[in-house]
Amino acid sequence: MAGRLWSVAGGAALLCLLAAHGCTATTKHHKPPKPHKPIPSPSPSPSPGNASSSSSNSSSTVPPPPASIPGNGSSTSGGWLNARATWYGAPNGAGPDDNGGACGFKNVNLPPFSAMTSCGNEPLFKDGKGCGSCYQIRCVGHPACSGAPETVIITDMNYYPVSLYHFDLSGTAFGAMAKDNRNDELRHAGIIDIQFRRVACQYPGLTVTFHVEEGSNPVYLAILVEYENGDGDVVQVELMESIRAADGAATPTGVWTAMRESWGSIWRLDTNHPLQGPFSLRITNESGKTLVADQVIPADWQPNTVYSSLVQFDS
Ligand SMILES: *[C@@H]1O[C@H](CO)[C@@H](O)[C@H](O)[C@H]1NC(C)=O
Ligand SMILES: *[C@@H]1O[C@H](CO)[C@@H](O)[C@H](O)[C@H]1NC(C)=O
Ligand SMILES: *[C@@H]1O[C@H](CO)[C@@H](O)[C@H](O)[C@H]1NC(C)=O
Ligand SMILES: *[C@@H]1O[C@H](CO)[C@@H](O)[C@H](O)[C@H]1NC(C)=O
Repeated sequence: MAGRLWSVAGGAALLCLLAAHGCTATTKHHKPPKPHKPIPSPSPSPSPGNASSSSSNSSSTVPPPPASIPGNGSSTSGGWLNARATWYGAPNGAGPDDNGGACGFKNVNLPPFSAMTSCGNEPLFKDGKGCGSCYQIRCVGHPACSGAPETVIITDMNYYPVSLYHFDLSGTAFGAMAKDNRNDELRHAGIIDIQFRRVACQYPGLTVTFHVEEGSNPVYLAILVEYENGDGDVVQVELMESIRAADGAATPTGVWTAMRESWGSIWRLDTNHPLQGPFSLRITNESGKTLVADQVIPADWQPNTVYSSLVQFDS
């Protein structure tokens, strides 16, 4: 397929020029994701000399996204909307080489994500708020398409102006839309029309999980929130510290402090005093339901460590 793709440098540079709010959008994140594989050219590749002149037209080829995506099947045709799909990374991989992505999730090649992952463009990634959202995708327009829905999760971003909704899928997820044994044939198409709809995430047997990020310390705590059933979008995270008595016993303060979204699904708290654990965490989902993970992070917490809660949203 290399022949169908632009060179990495040329394609990425050109797309940066073309993107109305493309590559620069990455600067909003503390850890700017690298541009992914070049997008297969949907038409004969324009020469770079034409890029700047056509940039003034990019808004006409990429209509502005609507305010929101239907969350359920109440709209026309069972809630399916049109999108375009590309893929990146290894053909049978999870997308990025490090099996992470702009949402901060790690090991997305392993369960529960199992490489069924995707970059979302702006209306899907939503500046990180879309991280962890689940979508069914299906393709019908290519002979190798099975038409059967597959579920993917947004774990990364890609703001190239490909279409109104653009899923830049892992090789695994792209191939999963194919009929049996025709994954490679479908991947060879490079860019295809698909349909998608939002679905509730389901993580059977898993509870909401908190990963204390590398670099956290007593006055800076960064937490990745993972595996929420349902919409998968956490809209608020709050933390409650403890008070440590002379005998060492810890009592919750009763005061919730809002954390703020750092990037992707990572929430941070910067304080002017050393934070005292154990910490309880309260998370709010898109429909306003809150869950409290009581003293989920112990007083002797460590960076780069996972703490599983006992709580989970209904899906
Ligand atoms: C733009 O591309 C067209 C063909 O795609 C070519 O004829 C034209 O000379 C190019 N213009 C510039 C400024 O490169
Ligand atoms: C913009 O697109 C229109 C047609 O859609 C075309 O006539 C015009 O030349 C284009 N302008 C530039 C600067 O590419
Ligand atoms: C679908 O969503 C709309 C609002 O987006 C809501 O009013 C409606 O109750 C939902 N329907 C179902 C079946 O969840
Ligand atoms: C939020 O959580 C509640 C309670 O678990 C659940 O019933 C609801 O479906 C969740 N909302 C969304 C949008 O997932």
